[in-house]
Amino acid sequence: MEEGKLWCCVVMVLTLMRSACGQLKAGFYSSSCPNAEGIVRSTVQSHFNQDPTIAPSLLRLHFHDCFVQGCDGSVLISGSSAEKTALSNTGLRGFEVIDDAKSQLEASCLGVVSCADILAWAARDAVVLTGGPSWSVPTGRRDGTVSLSSQASNLPSPLDPVSVQRQKFSAKGLDDHDLVTLVGAHTIGQTDCRFFSYRLYNFTATGNSDPTINQSFLGQLQAMCPKNGDGLRKVALDSGSAAKFDVSFFKNVRDGNGVLESDQRLWEDSATRSEVQKYAGTVRGLFGLRFDFEFPKAMIKMSSIEVKTGSQGEIRKVCSKFN
Ligand code: HEM
Ligand SMILES: *[C@@H]1O[C@H](CO)[C@@H](O)[C@H](O)[C@H]1NC(C)=O
Ligand SMILES: *[C@@H]1O[C@H](CO)[C@@H](O)[C@H](O)[C@H]1NC(C)=O
Repeated sequence: MEEGKLWCCVVMVLTLMRSACGQLKAGFYSSSCPNAEGIVRSTVQSHFNQDPTIAPSLLRLHFHDCFVQGCDGSVLISGSSAEKTALSNTGLRGFEVIDDAKSQLEASCLGVVSCADILAWAARDAVVLTGGPSWSVPTGRRDGTVSLSSQASNLPSPLDPVSVQRQKFSAKGLDDHDLVTLVGAHTIGQTDCRFFSYRLYNFTATGNSDPTINQSFLGQLQAMCPKNGDGLRKVALDSGSAAKFDVSFFKNVRDGNGVLESDQRLWEDSATRSEVQKYAGTVRGLFGLRFDFEFPKAMIKMSSIEVKTGSQGEIRKVCSKFN
């Protein structure tokens, strides 16, 4: 091939790759607000120093933003019919961290950095602070102008069987590999007893526990979430290492020690089971590295869902309100 033609191909491939990511690019703010990423990082760090449980909450916030109306900050909007009031969004936390970062960004670069991009950076920073991998976050998202609780029904539920989880992820362009990799985010953070206690006491028609729960773990879960006890009590999603971003979540799923029913079901379906098995592995260090490599790729994919760029949407002045 002639050199001219070759270059043309290279340019075409690069152009296609960019459009596949919705025109986002790393360094989007390098001239308009060069300190933006650092401001977000130090804000997340200072909140994390006060309360390390904020890290998983920020990661979850970004996921919930992306699955409804795309990654456009719609989850941050306040109001009686806004997305954040939906049942599937109960328990979301970390809004004050995003607001804090935004007010500092407005002081440095007025009207430049989107709330949607702050969420994407904060999610990455949260993973790094809990010992997970780092990656370069493509930016340039614009903030959306719609936020409705009625649209939050496409978020996955902890009761969803794999078939439904698969359907909800594939509707966003994410395959089984992405699904298992991203749910690996449950290696950090916690859940309320009320989201899984039915598995402990009233799972089968005869009122028994879920037979897929590891017998020794069942006793521990029952002790943490007594029958008719406080449904708001918190339990680690990754028992034994909830503060550390590692592969132990997958080992737990393999061993019947998953907490949410949706997590444990990943072991029942043959396709998702083989993905869990790859991460759980037998050689701890080696497979831990693999998750560290795959998680950023899956996050970049999730962070690009239905993004608004260019002149679409707006750059909000305050993350909880449309301009
Ligand atoms: C089938 C998919 C998923 C289901 C059914 C699901 C469900 C849940 C539930 C029920 C909780 C507990 C909420 C609470 O008690 O307040 C939770 C927490 C969490 N989820 Fe998911 N999730 C899914 C996928 C994901 C994905 C893709 C991510 C991120 C990439 C994620 C990140 C998190 C994190 C980090 C927490 C802990 C939050 C905290 O400690 O505040 N989840 N999830
Ligand atoms: C047990 O489950 C059944 C069927 O899902 C439900 O009708 C019943 O109210 C549950 N009982 C308790 C005590 O939660
Ligand atoms: C139950 O969990 C323990 C670790 O907590 C594990 O060693 C054991 O193999 C598990 N049992 C089954 C049947 O998977």
